[in-house]
Amino acid sequence: MHVLTLTGSDAPSLAAGLGGFRLILHVLAATIWVGGQFTVLGLLPTVRTFGVDAPKKVARAFGRLLWPAYALLVVTGFWNIAALTVKDASSAWKTVLMIKITVVVITGVAVFLHQRSTSKRGLAIWGTIGAVASVAALCLGVFLAG
Ligand code: HEM
Repeated sequence: MHVLTLTGSDAPSLAAGLGGFRLILHVLAATIWVGGQFTVLGLLPTVRTFGVDAPKKVARAFGRLLWPAYALLVVTGFWNIAALTVKDASSAWKTVLMIKITVVVITGVAVFLHQRSTSKRGLAIWGTIGAVASVAALCLGVFLAG
């Protein structure tokens, strides 16, 4: 995060105004997309005791939160890029950004296919790919933020 340093190059400093707001939105959306998947996974054994169609109902309700969060991640992600002087970034930083965008596409497609899976196998495979790629996107984001 490119911020106004107060004293000395490594001194921690406050995020500046709009930049801080931009990252707050990005991280908030990430907490819903990434954290939400693991929360629902953890609640599933209990949800199953509420009836055979309870998991489907909870998944559908979660989907109504999930996709707006994904959309916010993509919008604030490109806002992040627009706000940073990417042309001056190292080739390593640019490579990590490209890998991250690829991973974000993979997590979106995998979660979409998971939601439409009709087999236990499809649910498990696409659900796992979606969750692992989500965590990877989070990790790559933290490295990008510097
Ligand atoms: C599943 C989707 C995504 C997740 C979970 C995610 C997560 C994160 C996290 C946790 C950070 C670090 C914030 C910090 O440490 O302050 C971050 C930063 C960043 N993300 Fe994402 N992100 C996602 C999608 C995207 C997309 C689609 C883009 C670009 C199109 C993007 C571009 C960036 C950039 C450029 C930064 C660095 C921001 C800065 O230093 O100001 N992210 N992301």
